[in-house]
Amino acid sequence: MKGIMDYYDKTALEWAKMSYTPDPEIPALLDFARRFPPGSRFLDLCCGCGCESQRIHAMGYEVVGLDFSEESLKIARERNPDIVFYQDDLRNDYSYIGKVDAVIVIAGLVHIEKDQLPLAFSRMRDVMKDEGRLFITVREGQGKIEKRSQYIVDGETYDRAFFGHSLEELQAAASGMFAFEQGMGDDGTGWHNYIFTTVKEKESKKRTGK
Ligand SMILES: C[S@@+](CC[C@H](N)C(=O)[O-])C[C@H]1O[C@@H](n2cnc3c(N)ncnc32)[C@H](O)[C@@H]1O
Repeated sequence: MKGIMDYYDKTALEWAKMSYTPDPEIPALLDFARRFPPGSRFLDLCCGCGCESQRIHAMGYEVVGLDFSEESLKIARERNPDIVFYQDDLRNDYSYIGKVDAVIVIAGLVHIEKDQLPLAFSRMRDVMKDEGRLFITVREGQGKIEKRSQYIVDGETYDRAFFGHSLEELQAAASGMFAFEQGMGDDGTGWHNYIFTTVKEKESKKRTGK
């Protein structure tokens, strides 16, 4: 059966049509981005066809994107010639991209099972400056959600391995690297937005009382 990357390669065009909307899909993400000073550098991890990269870049920030779907990246590059997009798996070492102030992961960790979350967080920590933040959008739940995993496209079955995650699960996986800061924009759809901050940032805030 075909897997996650095959599914997103096959459906990249449909995702692009759905996600390049004039209105922001996740207003909380833009509120998050506004906290950063001009010139800050963002990584859009699991950027897909690059719609959120584009929105953040349009706010005046530097953005790089990373995804493992070649077809999604083709669209991302075509539509955003000013943004650098890398093809890689988020579980690999992608520290070659350099350091960033913030990582956003919109509906990307839904494809990472619980026991691989610590690795995913550690890869993000490796590219983040000491005082950085992370915005993640996940589907609430635990374990694999079969009805969101199995799809038939053009007569072929795909298992895009879709996992729900609880905040507790994320906090445990991020422990020692990132601390939970805030939940944002929970609109009752089952999708949750969470902000994590590097443990270093949290400690320096405690010291200065800010
Ligand atoms: C639901 S889409 C979200 C795309 C984009 N963030 C958005 O909001 O439009 C999930 C994306 O995660 C990517 N992805 C899934 N697992 C990945 C992995 N292990 N490494 C890199 N990219 C991955 C897929 O290729 C796909 O583009």
